Amino acid sequence: MKLLHVDSSILAANSVSRILSADLVEAQRRLHPGLEVIHRDLAAQPLQHLSGAHLAAAQGTTPETGLDVEASVAALEEFLAADIIVIGAPMYNFGLPSQLKAWVDRLAVAGKTFRYSEKGVEGLAGGKKLLIASSRGGAYADTPIAFLDHQESYLRAIFGFLGITDITVIRAENVARTELREKSIATARAEIAGIAA
Ligand SMILES: Cc1cc2nc3c(=O)[nH]c(=O)nc-3n(C[C@H](O)[C@H](O)[C@H](O)COP(=O)(O)O)c2cc1C
Repeated sequence: MKLLHVDSSILAANSVSRILSADLVEAQRRLHPGLEVIHRDLAAQPLQHLSGAHLAAAQGTTPETGLDVEASVAALEEFLAADIIVIGAPMYNFGLPSQLKAWVDRLAVAGKTFRYSEKGVEGLAGGKKLLIASSRGGAYADTPIAFLDHQESYLRAIFGFLGITDITVIRAENVARTELREKSIATARAEIAGIAA
């Protein structure tokens, strides 16, 4: 069994989503002894913005040189091979870090992860478990500003589009509020510990 662990926070040791994503991976290791884990750090090794050449390479046509097309193709293959995917997903400017968006752009490839048919759109990457470690400075869930969330809502939408239905979000909110930060992180970590119990 294979787990793909993706981190995207730019905040290194101060990152909340990295703490939670690491906990999620450890919980899955306890549940699945012998689990093979691959870690992709999108802040340490960012993918380039998607270009036409990257898209052509993903679809099997000859790549241009000078672009990280091999890294692009490797990212898609890694995703397709994974049974479980853990994503550390901070909210930046109401959406995803651009590093994480660049990775998502490698995954949505017509004919590989989705297709259009007479039945409409069809996701081809189903059967995977997706665990999202979400961190946010403010609070959005069940609040009047929930409409500002283009981070979790986007991840649910795009991975649903690719056919993934087994999606769990663990979130720490209000981490920018000093008086709430530690409790919020502890609550999310306890929730993750509960998954493995
Ligand atoms: C560049 C940047 C943009 C941010 N934008 C938002 C935002 O739009 N809304 C919010 O609630 N918090 C925002 N925050 C706070 C982060 O969501 C919060 O620090 C969270 O812990 C980030 O995850 P990380 O610690 O794993 O990087 C932002 C932080 C950074 C560094």
